[in-house]
Parts: sequence; structure tokens; C-alpha cells
Amino acid sequence: MEPLRPASTPCPPAPCGTSARTDIGTCRSVRITCISETGWRDNGVLLADIEAGGGVHSNQWEMAWHADNGAGSSSLIEIELTDGRCFRILLDAGWNPDYMSERLAATGVDRMLEDGGIDLLMISHEHLDHLWGLEAVLRLRPDIPIALPATLSAEGEAFLRGADHRRAGARNRIAHTGPLLRHAPGAVHHLADGVAAVTFDLPIMLGIRGEQSLYVNLAQHGIVCITGCCHQTLPRFADFARDHLAGGERLHGLYGGLHIAPFGPLSEEARATVRQLGDYGFRKVACNHCTGAQAVGLMLELGYPVVRGSGRCGSQSDLFIGNGDQVVFGG
Ligand SMILES: [Fe+2]
Ligand SMILES: [Fe+2]
Repeated sequence: MEPLRPASTPCPPAPCGTSARTDIGTCRSVRITCISETGWRDNGVLLADIEAGGGVHSNQWEMAWHADNGAGSSSLIEIELTDGRCFRILLDAGWNPDYMSERLAATGVDRMLEDGGIDLLMISHEHLDHLWGLEAVLRLRPDIPIALPATLSAEGEAFLRGADHRRAGARNRIAHTGPLLRHAPGAVHHLADGVAAVTFDLPIMLGIRGEQSLYVNLAQHGIVCITGCCHQTLPRFADFARDHLAGGERLHGLYGGLHIAPFGPLSEEARATVRQLGDYGFRKVACNHCTGAQAVGLMLELGYPVVRGSGRCGSQSDLFIGNGDQVVFGG
């Protein structure tokens, strides 16, 4: 199969005063393997670390984390293009590099990385459970092209080049040597036919800024929205597709963390977000990671087309696609 050249082209914005939407092209299908949706092992330990570090507005790089509580969020996105080629994105690098090495091996993604079969590492955002496992990826392929939000902090930039934040337990001993694609907020960054990334600019807990997400436009089905944590909120994420992308009136699938109830009980606001999700008419919902098991439980109660998982390999629940599970959209 012919490899794809890593590229990221900002699409020109639609002319002012028109309702034109950006055309990202189309592709056939997307298969997603959840390498790990378990960001951390124990909520209590994580919350205690945050409190001891000064609270949710403190800088994650300066806090003392229990490194053995770290696991990580990471997924393999395999997109079948209309010409039959496959475009592969590794979405996020997890937290604990030893844990991530195990998960990459268990899912066969380690060999894909070594063989040059992954076109792009896309870092959704800078949070520890999405970025700090980077060494596990770079150990296998130090020159992999990386796409990340242009809002990355100075600490995040240094981490890519190799850094040891001892207090935080964040270490990357392997400098990244490949291309860096910095995605500025607001633009539609075209990655391949039918595939685009958009960075949303916002302050996020633990002192970071900005998150990017993926849109994959399936010719026969509509748009699949793929997210790391969706800190930009589900309405902002889905509305962007509906309002700014050609074909956005047909939202087909949803995958990833939705940050609705990551630490447990559902608040009224979280319940309202779950009910709001129903308004978008997604045909296949595969939310995991920081969505929260109780939020997914409510989705099931409301009759949403939730894809359940196996609950194996340390997954939080079998209510959703978990570690080692796969979901296919289209195809
Ligand atoms: Fe996360
Ligand atoms: Fe996050």
C-alpha cells in the first residue's frame, strides 16, 4: 500500500457573508482501535494529587503526580480513502510510558510504528494522560510526524525535544526528530481526502490551552466526529461540523472522550449534556475515556445507539468501547 505524505493544509475560510461551508472531501470508512481509554487507574488518587497540587487551575507540569496511577488515552484511527489507500493516525500518546508500551504491543500498533505504517501522531491536547506517554511512541519511531494544537505551552514544546520534569514524573528521553504540524485554532486543517483536524481555543483545567479534534467525512454515511477529551464541549464540537463543514447536516458517528462525568456521579448539567447529545442524531456513539460510565449508562437508558465493549484489559466498564476493542464506522 502506498504510504501517504504527511500534510496539513489549512483550508481557506468561506467568504464572509455567505453560508458556504468548507469541503474536506470524502472517504469510505474508518476503523478505530482503542489502545487504551483508561486515563488513570484510580479517581481518588488523581483527585488527591490535584488538590495537593493547588487545584484544577494549577500547572500540571509543576504538580507532584503518583506516576503509578497513570495509564493513558490513545487510539488508532485507520481511514480507508476513496482510492483504497489507508491513512493511519495515532490519536494521543497516553500517560505512563511503560503502560503505553504494553498497550502498543498488545494491539500490534508497536510494529506499525516501527514499520512506518502510521502516517501521523495527533496530540489532541496537552493533558498528562494524552501527552506524557510520548516516549513510548518515540522509542519506536522518533521521526513520526506530529500534529498538535498551536496553543502548546513552552513546557509541552520542551517535552517534545526531550525533558525530565522530576516533580511531575513526566519524562521523555527521546527527542522528536520528525515534522511538527502546529494547528492554529479555528482553521480547518486538511490531513487527507475526507479527513480534517480543527483546534478549539479555550483554557482547560490544569493550566493548559486548546484541544484539537478530528472530522472524517464518509461518502455514504456522513461525518464521524473523533475526540480526545472534548474539553471544548460536545455542542461546540458538533456545531462546528454542522455549521462549517460541507455535509455537516449529516452527523453519523461519535468516538472518544466527552468529558461529561469523568469522576463519577452525574450532575444536572451532565444529564443535560447527555440529553442534548440526542438532538444531533448520531447513528453510532462510541464514547469512552472521560465520558464517564454513568453518562454512557444514561445514553443507553435514553436509547442512543451506543456501541458497547468487552470490558477487558483494564477497561473502566463494558458499557463502552474499551482497551483493545474496535469500532467501525461505514464500510
Ligand atoms: Fe483525558
Ligand atoms: Fe483532558
